Amino acid sequence: MKEKQLLNQRRSINFFDPRYVIESETLRKVISLANLTPSSLNLQPWQLIVVRSPERKKALRKLAFNQAKVEEASAVFIVIADNEGVEKNLEPVLDKAVSLGYFPEENKEQMRQTAAALYGEKESEQRRLFATKNASLFAMSLMYAAQVYDLETHPMDGFDEEKVKAEFSVDSQKYIPMLIAIGKMRKDASLLPRAYRREVMDFTSFV
Ligand SMILES: Cc1cc2nc3c(=O)[nH]c(=O)nc-3n(C[C@H](O)[C@H](O)[C@H](O)COP(=O)(O)O)c2cc1C
Repeated sequence: MKEKQLLNQRRSINFFDPRYVIESETLRKVISLANLTPSSLNLQPWQLIVVRSPERKKALRKLAFNQAKVEEASAVFIVIADNEGVEKNLEPVLDKAVSLGYFPEENKEQMRQTAAALYGEKESEQRRLFATKNASLFAMSLMYAAQVYDLETHPMDGFDEEKVKAEFSVDSQKYIPMLIAIGKMRKDASLLPRAYRREVMDFTSFV
Protein backbone atom coordinates (compact mmCIF):
# COMPACT_ATOMS: atom_id res chain seq x y z
CA MET A 1 0.00 0.00 0.00
CA LYS A 2 1.42 3.37 -1.01
CA GLU A 3 1.96 5.98 1.73
CA LYS A 4 -0.50 8.47 0.24
CA GLN A 5 -3.19 5.82 0.08
CA LEU A 6 -2.43 4.85 3.66
CA LEU A 7 -3.08 8.37 4.93
CA ASN A 8 -6.07 8.92 2.67
CA GLN A 9 -7.77 5.70 3.63
CA ARG A 10 -7.36 5.73 7.39
CA ARG A 11 -10.63 6.44 9.10
CA SER A 12 -11.89 6.06 12.64
CA ILE A 13 -14.22 3.12 12.28
CA ASN A 14 -17.25 2.75 14.51
CA PHE A 15 -18.63 -0.41 12.97
CA PHE A 16 -16.39 -3.34 13.80
CA ASP A 17 -17.37 -6.88 12.87
CA PRO A 18 -17.80 -8.48 16.32
CA ARG A 19 -17.36 -11.96 14.82
CA TYR A 20 -13.93 -11.29 13.41
CA VAL A 21 -11.26 -12.93 15.53
CA ILE A 22 -7.80 -11.50 14.99
CA GLU A 23 -4.85 -13.90 14.97
CA SER A 24 -2.15 -13.29 17.57
CA GLU A 25 0.38 -13.48 14.77
CA THR A 26 -1.34 -10.64 12.89
CA LEU A 27 -1.36 -8.51 16.02
CA ARG A 28 2.32 -9.22 16.51
CA LYS A 29 3.04 -8.14 12.93
CA VAL A 30 1.13 -4.88 13.39
CA ILE A 31 2.95 -4.12 16.63
CA SER A 32 6.29 -5.08 15.16
CA LEU A 33 5.84 -2.68 12.24
CA ALA A 34 4.76 0.12 14.58
CA ASN A 35 7.81 -0.60 16.68
CA LEU A 36 9.85 1.16 13.97
CA THR A 37 8.43 4.46 15.26
CA PRO A 38 11.10 7.09 15.91
CA SER A 39 11.57 8.29 19.49
CA SER A 40 13.58 10.77 21.54
CA LEU A 41 17.15 9.43 21.83
CA ASN A 42 15.58 6.19 20.56
CA LEU A 43 14.30 5.55 24.12
CA GLN A 44 10.95 4.05 23.03
CA PRO A 45 9.09 5.01 26.21
CA TRP A 46 5.88 3.11 25.57
CA GLN A 47 4.13 0.00 26.71
CA LEU A 48 1.18 -1.76 25.23
CA ILE A 49 -1.61 -3.90 26.62
CA VAL A 50 -3.60 -5.84 24.02
CA VAL A 51 -7.10 -6.47 25.32
CA ARG A 52 -8.53 -9.44 23.44
CA SER A 53 -10.74 -11.61 25.62
CA PRO A 54 -14.50 -10.88 25.47
CA GLU A 55 -14.59 -10.47 29.27
CA ARG A 56 -11.75 -7.99 29.40
CA LYS A 57 -13.15 -6.00 26.45
CA LYS A 58 -16.51 -5.86 28.24
CA ALA A 59 -14.81 -4.58 31.37
CA LEU A 60 -12.92 -1.97 29.34
CA ARG A 61 -16.07 -0.85 27.54
CA LYS A 62 -17.64 0.03 30.91
CA LEU A 63 -14.66 2.28 31.65
CA ALA A 64 -14.75 3.85 28.18
CA PHE A 65 -18.13 5.56 28.42
CA ASN A 66 -19.80 2.42 27.14
CA GLN A 67 -18.40 2.90 23.63
CA ALA A 68 -19.62 -0.17 21.73
CA LYS A 69 -16.52 -0.35 19.53
CA VAL A 70 -14.45 -1.31 22.57
CA GLU A 71 -16.36 -4.57 22.80
CA GLU A 72 -17.08 -5.09 19.09
CA ALA A 73 -13.51 -4.61 17.85
CA SER A 74 -11.30 -7.70 17.74
CA ALA A 75 -8.86 -6.15 20.17
CA VAL A 76 -8.18 -2.87 21.91
CA PHE A 77 -4.70 -1.50 22.46
CA ILE A 78 -4.10 0.35 25.70
CA VAL A 79 -1.20 2.64 24.74
CA ILE A 80 0.87 3.58 27.77
CA ALA A 81 3.35 6.44 27.97
CA ASP A 82 6.11 5.04 30.14
CA ASN A 83 7.63 7.77 32.27
CA GLU A 84 10.31 5.28 33.36
CA GLY A 85 11.40 4.71 29.76
CA VAL A 86 14.61 6.64 30.38
CA GLU A 87 15.74 4.53 33.37
CA LYS A 88 14.66 1.26 31.76
CA ASN A 89 15.83 1.73 28.21
CA LEU A 90 18.76 4.15 28.19
CA GLU A 91 21.58 1.68 28.92
CA PRO A 92 20.48 -1.04 26.48
CA VAL A 93 19.84 1.62 23.83
CA LEU A 94 23.31 3.11 24.36
CA ASP A 95 24.94 -0.32 24.27
CA LYS A 96 23.23 -1.17 21.00
CA ALA A 97 24.09 2.20 19.50
CA VAL A 98 27.77 1.61 20.28
CA SER A 99 27.73 -1.93 18.90
CA LEU A 100 25.97 -0.75 15.73
CA GLY A 101 28.60 1.95 15.23
CA TYR A 102 26.46 5.03 15.93
CA PHE A 103 29.02 6.49 18.33
CA PRO A 104 32.02 5.34 20.38
CA GLU A 105 31.79 4.00 23.95
CA GLU A 106 33.19 7.26 25.37
CA ASN A 107 30.15 9.21 24.09
CA LYS A 108 27.78 7.31 26.37
CA GLU A 109 28.26 9.60 29.34
CA GLN A 110 27.41 12.63 27.23
CA MET A 111 24.21 10.88 26.10
CA ARG A 112 23.29 10.11 29.72
CA GLN A 113 23.68 13.77 30.60
CA THR A 114 21.64 14.83 27.58
CA ALA A 115 18.84 12.46 28.60
CA ALA A 116 18.87 13.75 32.18
CA ALA A 117 18.76 17.38 31.03
CA LEU A 118 16.10 16.93 28.37
CA TYR A 119 13.74 14.50 30.06
CA GLY A 120 13.91 15.49 33.73
CA GLU A 121 13.01 13.54 36.85
CA LYS A 122 10.86 10.42 36.67
CA GLU A 123 7.75 12.07 38.06
CA SER A 124 8.13 15.51 36.49
CA GLU A 125 5.86 17.18 33.94
CA GLN A 126 8.84 17.25 31.59
CA ARG A 127 9.07 13.47 31.81
CA ARG A 128 5.34 13.03 31.28
CA LEU A 129 5.53 15.12 28.12
CA PHE A 130 8.54 13.18 26.89
CA ALA A 131 6.75 9.86 27.36
CA THR A 132 3.46 11.13 25.98
CA LYS A 133 4.78 12.61 22.75
CA ASN A 134 6.71 9.46 21.96
CA ALA A 135 3.91 7.07 22.89
CA SER A 136 1.50 9.12 20.77
CA LEU A 137 3.76 8.74 17.74
CA PHE A 138 3.80 5.01 18.45
CA ALA A 139 0.00 5.07 18.61
CA MET A 140 -0.21 6.70 15.19
CA SER A 141 2.12 4.08 13.79
CA LEU A 142 -0.10 1.33 15.20
CA MET A 143 -3.02 2.78 13.24
CA TYR A 144 -1.10 2.91 9.98
CA ALA A 145 0.48 -0.50 10.56
CA ALA A 146 -3.01 -1.94 11.07
CA GLN A 147 -3.99 -0.72 7.60
CA VAL A 148 -1.00 -2.45 6.06
CA TYR A 149 -2.60 -5.70 7.31
CA ASP A 150 -6.08 -4.74 6.05
CA LEU A 151 -7.35 -3.84 9.48
CA GLU A 152 -9.22 -0.77 10.67
CA THR A 153 -8.77 1.19 13.86
CA HIS A 154 -10.38 3.76 16.11
CA PRO A 155 -8.42 5.90 18.59
CA MET A 156 -10.20 6.89 21.81
CA ASP A 157 -9.51 9.15 24.74
CA GLY A 158 -13.05 8.82 25.99
CA PHE A 159 -12.30 6.65 29.01
CA ASP A 160 -11.72 6.97 32.73
CA GLU A 161 -7.95 6.83 32.89
CA GLU A 162 -7.65 6.13 36.60
CA LYS A 163 -10.15 3.28 36.45
CA VAL A 164 -8.51 1.79 33.35
CA LYS A 165 -5.15 1.90 35.14
CA ALA A 166 -6.64 0.17 38.17
CA GLU A 167 -8.48 -2.48 36.14
CA PHE A 168 -5.46 -3.35 33.97
CA SER A 169 -2.77 -2.97 36.64
CA VAL A 170 -1.02 0.00 35.05
CA ASP A 171 1.30 1.93 37.38
CA SER A 172 -0.47 5.07 38.59
CA GLN A 173 2.52 7.24 37.54
CA LYS A 174 2.10 6.33 33.91
CA TYR A 175 -0.20 8.06 31.47
CA ILE A 176 -2.54 6.50 28.91
CA PRO A 177 -2.78 8.84 25.90
CA MET A 178 -5.32 6.68 24.12
CA LEU A 179 -6.98 3.36 23.49
CA ILE A 180 -7.06 2.04 19.93
CA ALA A 181 -9.74 -0.38 18.79
CA ILE A 182 -8.58 -2.67 15.96
CA GLY A 183 -10.41 -5.12 13.75
CA LYS A 184 -12.39 -5.49 10.51
CA MET A 185 -15.26 -3.26 9.52
CA ARG A 186 -18.72 -4.84 9.34
CA LYS A 187 -19.52 -5.59 5.71
CA ASP A 188 -23.00 -4.01 5.90
CA ALA A 189 -21.74 -0.74 7.42
CA SER A 190 -21.00 2.40 5.48
CA LEU A 191 -19.11 5.46 6.61
CA LEU A 192 -20.10 9.09 6.44
CA PRO A 193 -17.82 11.26 4.28
CA ARG A 194 -14.42 12.04 5.74
CA ALA A 195 -14.71 14.39 8.71
CA TYR A 196 -13.99 18.10 8.11
CA ARG A 197 -10.38 19.24 8.09
CA ARG A 198 -9.21 22.85 8.42
CA GLU A 199 -7.48 24.48 5.50
CA VAL A 200 -3.72 24.03 5.63
CA MET A 201 -3.11 27.77 5.78
CA ASP A 202 -5.37 28.07 8.86
CA PHE A 203 -2.65 26.44 10.95
CA THR A 204 0.56 26.80 8.91
CA SER A 205 2.91 29.69 8.50
CA PHE A 206 5.93 29.77 6.25
CA VAL A 207 8.64 32.00 7.68
C1 LIG B 1 -6.49 10.95 20.66
C2 LIG B 1 -7.84 10.72 20.02
C3 LIG B 1 -8.92 10.45 20.84
C4 LIG B 1 -10.17 10.19 20.29
N1 LIG B 1 -11.19 9.80 21.11
C5 LIG B 1 -12.35 9.39 20.57
C6 LIG B 1 -13.36 8.78 21.38
O1 LIG B 1 -13.19 8.58 22.59
N2 LIG B 1 -14.51 8.40 20.80
C7 LIG B 1 -14.73 8.56 19.46
O2 LIG B 1 -15.81 8.18 18.99
N3 LIG B 1 -13.80 9.10 18.67
C8 LIG B 1 -12.61 9.49 19.17
N4 LIG B 1 -11.60 9.96 18.36
C9 LIG B 1 -11.80 9.94 16.89
C10 LIG B 1 -11.92 11.35 16.30
O3 LIG B 1 -13.18 11.87 16.56
C11 LIG B 1 -11.64 11.24 14.80
O4 LIG B 1 -10.30 10.87 14.62
C12 LIG B 1 -11.90 12.55 14.06
O5 LIG B 1 -13.26 12.87 14.12
C13 LIG B 1 -11.49 12.46 12.60
O6 LIG B 1 -12.05 11.35 11.96
P1 LIG B 1 -11.17 10.29 11.18
O7 LIG B 1 -10.25 9.66 12.19
O8 LIG B 1 -12.14 9.29 10.61
O9 LIG B 1 -10.42 11.01 10.11
C14 LIG B 1 -10.36 10.25 18.88
C15 LIG B 1 -9.25 10.56 18.07
C16 LIG B 1 -8.02 10.78 18.62
C17 LIG B 1 -6.83 11.03 17.71
